[in-house]
Amino acid sequence: MKSHEKLLLENKAWAEEIRHREPDYFERLAADQKPKFLWIGCSDSRVPADIIVNAEPGEIFAHRNIANQVIATDFNCLSVIQYAVQVLRVEHVIVCGHYNCGGVRASLSPQSPDLSLLNKWLMHLKDIYRMHRHEIDAIESIKDKADRLVELNVIEQVRRLSHLSIVQTAWATYQAPMLHGWVYALDDGILQQLITLPANSDIDVIYQQLETPA
Ligand code: CO
Repeated sequence: MKSHEKLLLENKAWAEEIRHREPDYFERLAADQKPKFLWIGCSDSRVPADIIVNAEPGEIFAHRNIANQVIATDFNCLSVIQYAVQVLRVEHVIVCGHYNCGGVRASLSPQSPDLSLLNKWLMHLKDIYRMHRHEIDAIESIKDKADRLVELNVIEQVRRLSHLSIVQTAWATYQAPMLHGWVYALDDGILQQLITLPANSDIDVIYQQLETPA
């Protein structure tokens, strides 16, 4: 059997098993979605959002990209955030990074001549390294350097979320969502919290959105 055919077969078995357990499951789920969480994670196949927090379909709205980045010119990520925050009114936005992240490790190396597009995506990580160069350069092993950059990247992405007008408007209007930065360890499957920004946390003045006149 080809590997993609196995996925289709597994899907049939999965749907059958759920229907057996709860006959109206799909009908109920198809009617609407009211997720409380937006998950912004890495595309890495070893960090599947729903599975590692034991969530059911319908619980987590998700966006994943290489090294879980929130970039203010990325319409894909921003559209997901806008829909999740303004329309679905999620209560929490979670940025989840993971140790041993290939994207973060690659960002600590020179640009690869044959990955011109990926190089540009990784530039944003290089900038975070440059902001924290003093701290990271003092760490001895390459692995530990990269793992510290994983943590600093998560913290920076949560701050970037707070810089978005979408988030600031939601904070002013309905005191949500709360922003979280987590990191996942591949070797034990455990998540750790790195940063939490409740609604209306202090934001550096240059990132604040001016109030619109009444
Ligand atoms: Co990764």
